[in-house]
Amino acid sequence: MNEALSLDGVTYKFGDFTAVDDLSFSVEQGECFGLLGPNGAGKTTTIRLINTLLPVQKGDVRVFGHDVRHSAMAVRRLLGYVPQQLSIEGGLTARENVTWFARLFDVPRRERKARVDEVLDMVDLLPDADRLASTFSGGMVRRLELAQALVNRPALLVLDEPTVGLDPVARDSVWQRVTDMQERYGMTVVLTTHYMEEADLLCDRVALMHRGSMRVIGAPDDLKAGIGPDASLEDVFRRYTGDSLTEAEKGGLRSVRATRRTAGRMG
Ligand SMILES: Nc1ncnc2c1ncn2[C@@H]1O[C@H](COP(=O)(O)OP(=O)(O)O)[C@@H](O)[C@H]1O
Ligand SMILES: [Mg+2]
Repeated sequence: MNEALSLDGVTYKFGDFTAVDDLSFSVEQGECFGLLGPNGAGKTTTIRLINTLLPVQKGDVRVFGHDVRHSAMAVRRLLGYVPQQLSIEGGLTARENVTWFARLFDVPRRERKARVDEVLDMVDLLPDADRLASTFSGGMVRRLELAQALVNRPALLVLDEPTVGLDPVARDSVWQRVTDMQERYGMTVVLTTHYMEEADLLCDRVALMHRGSMRVIGAPDDLKAGIGPDASLEDVFRRYTGDSLTEAEKGGLRSVRATRRTAGRMG
């Protein structure tokens, strides 16, 4: 068994507030794994523990066997990361943005130009390679970030809400490229999303997070079958989080009731 990623008893607190609560799961090499949950569930915090941007306070996080606490540099070399927040430089061209990452991640000098063009082509930005990123649409910016994350051919690609702001055509095109890379290089993919349909299509397995802890984990088809015939992943999601995807935004009494309903159902 080849584990690309494993979390064991991971808890993370911001002050007194527990953002990630005793989380354990592992991801096999070559798998596409989805971390799902409403806003505030703890997805981004989990991702930032994996990619060494937050210090592990409690529990273990391993990337291809490397403990992120002791081998942060090794982990960073194995990882490609598309953050939820924008990470490109508007004052640089698309090509300069990707070249900068290629340098940062030690892509050999003589391969650099070809590799930069290859990833720009993958995300359909080659014709716009010499335009300033500040002139790009939201969708183009997102694809540029994907190119940055792919330029060092990461063994583990981590994507935090990668398709927010992309139109359906651009979204499909991004996913097609991610899937290609996965097949060609055996890349492992961990993504967060609140688009259930997308997770259903793409992920071999998903984990549902709610208020920092994991509610359920499994293959989308198995989870749907557990709810009933014709159930969607959205139905699974509702069952385990007790409300819609925007629960955290609604707040108030409704949210309290929903929590109680969930607690009742889950015994
Ligand atoms: N820097 C921070 N300081 C305090 N609380 C935070 C911080 N970052 C996130 N949180 C809180 O932790 C919880 C989980 O956040 P996050 O991991 O971003 O959730 P998600 O990505 O699932 O929307 C939220 O309640 C959020 O408000
Ligand atoms: Mg997030």
